Amino acid sequence: MNIAVVGIGRIGLPIAVKLASRGHQVVGCDVDATRVDLVSRGGNPIPGEAGLGELLSRVVHSGNLTATTDTIGAVASCSTVLFAVAVDVDANGRADLTNLEAAARAVGKGITPGTLCIFDTTLPVGTTRNTLAPLLESGGLKLGSEIHVAFSPERLLMGRVLEDLDKYPTIVGGLDSEAGRRAARFYIEALGTTVMTLGSAEAAELSKLAEGVYRDLNIALANELACVADIHGVDFSEVREAANSQPYCHLHVPGAGVGGHCIPVYPHFLVQGEGPSELAALGRRINDAMPGYLVDRLETVLGGLGGRSVIVLGLSFRPNVDVTAHTNAVDLLHALRERGANVYGHDPLLNDDAVRGLGFQPADSLTGFDAAVVHAYHNEYRDLDWPALAPLIVDARNALDPEGLVNAGVRYFGVGRPLR
Ligand SMILES: NC(=O)c1ccc[n+]([C@@H]2O[C@H](COP(=O)([O-])OP(=O)(O)OC[C@H]3O[C@@H](n4cnc5c(N)ncnc54)[C@H](O)[C@@H]3O)[C@@H](O)[C@H]2O)c1
Repeated sequence: MNIAVVGIGRIGLPIAVKLASRGHQVVGCDVDATRVDLVSRGGNPIPGEAGLGELLSRVVHSGNLTATTDTIGAVASCSTVLFAVAVDVDANGRADLTNLEAAARAVGKGITPGTLCIFDTTLPVGTTRNTLAPLLESGGLKLGSEIHVAFSPERLLMGRVLEDLDKYPTIVGGLDSEAGRRAARFYIEALGTTVMTLGSAEAAELSKLAEGVYRDLNIALANELACVADIHGVDFSEVREAANSQPYCHLHVPGAGVGGHCIPVYPHFLVQGEGPSELAALGRRINDAMPGYLVDRLETVLGGLGGRSVIVLGLSFRPNVDVTAHTNAVDLLHALRERGANVYGHDPLLNDDAVRGLGFQPADSLTGFDAAVVHAYHNEYRDLDWPALAPLIVDARNALDPEGLVNAGVRYFGVGRPLR
């Protein structure tokens, strides 16, 4: 099969590589010329993605994967086009479709009759049909008869995308039943996945929002319960373990907010839609308030933050990735600064410029602070000299072992974990 993947970022590139490794002729299209050049030479722009480097090099050298900035030219010879161009929210919390719309327009100018176009990027419900599909007609072909369009959300976790591609069923929904059938056949034949075909593109779009909003709300509930636990001096970790020992309870882990490209973004897509979304908005408010809540607790414990030196460890949105999209480390920084603290930042996966770019002053050494807030507990932090770092450790993700820290001679508290 000849396949184009438009947007060879963290999600699109592993998908392109996987398809190429299954013997298909794949072209990755991107506006980022540096990335295209690197990939064309078999270089891996995402070193943290498990198994990608080796497979990428292999498929480029076998000739199964090429990369280009010429999307219009590339899609002309492809029977299927996948879109993996990112969509974020703008300052007003609305989906910013600018890049994806540009990609759809370019693809529309190049495709030939019979092409199947599948949008993989998570979208507000109705966007595939009402906004993106019409742009595919920019070259004069007609939707339905000459262009077949479906939506199929990516259900992948950065760092293990190649593994996840085989793990979960692929969800598809077409603009019409023919498009849905073609998309299902494509994934079965090209990727070898099992497929769940939903009744429409809208159903598939909503299924992805449902997954994301479920997690955001679950975390919001865990956060609310953790705040109750704090009032009563109860350790929420044991409460959660006890509650989850019953098979109908699946409480997630509380923490100082929710970061990343996905979970904090998708509730906004629901909120901007036509239907009810009060709960999704409430979950966002609860989770967004958590960094401030944690810093308030720190202020109380220290008896004030004015002039205190506080280091935030792990600035990426989660451990062991270098991605800082919507990272709550920045929310912690703002909350700490508002209360007068001198704030430093450290992340072994980011260079000093990137640390400064987030607004932090890079730490010269990991010693001598009044308090340390552990935001992303990277593997590199496992052997830290905690007593040398600070006498008080704040666990923003409940990732540390309180017992071990207290035994080492430092004070500790987490989200719904009492001061020890
Ligand atoms: N990152 C995740 O963990 C994850 C997980 C599941 C689903 N997703 C979905 O995948 C989407 C893509 O995420 P990502 O992390 O790969 O984003 P990314 O920013 O890493 O990659 C997007 C790529 O699209 C390129 N691009 C921008 N405009 C373009 C255009 N007009 N034509 C061609 N390429 C263009 C960019 O240069 C970039 O390389 C997200 O919006 C999300 O819906 C992401």
